[in-house]
Amino acid sequence: MEYRSYTNGEITVYWRPKLCNHNGYCYENLDSVFDPLDRPWINMKGATTEEIIDVIEHCPTGALTYKRNSELTESNKKETTNNTVVINVAPNGPFLVKGDFIIIDKNGKELPKIEKAMLCRCGKSRNMPFCDGYHKEIDFRG
Ligand code: FES
Repeated sequence: MEYRSYTNGEITVYWRPKLCNHNGYCYENLDSVFDPLDRPWINMKGATTEEIIDVIEHCPTGALTYKRNSELTESNKKETTNNTVVINVAPNGPFLVKGDFIIIDKNGKELPKIEKAMLCRCGKSRNMPFCDGYHKEIDFRG
């Protein structure tokens, strides 16, 4: 899946545009870093590493993720995994899925692995199976 990356030397932030539904969580909570009107739209010098991580960890879409640069260079470091998959149902919105899961699209193709996703529940997204925010435009009460 297409992504862009940004680093401040301590962490690398990854943004996957296809997963973003532009709900505004990032720029409403840390506009010194996330500014959709600026280019590049992520300014890694706009806040501390921990402030950036806090916003990314609360991004409901999974479009923003990060890795500590020290993890990227430790090739023999074993990953620990938590097998619990958490699915939250957003009021009148998508399923928020987080954990160790895979997504198989309507054609039976496995999509690239991600750790969080907002899956469309209204059936009207133009970026299936992901929510693109279109549910806000329709009378969807689910
Ligand atoms: S639930 Fe968001 S577009 Fe369908």
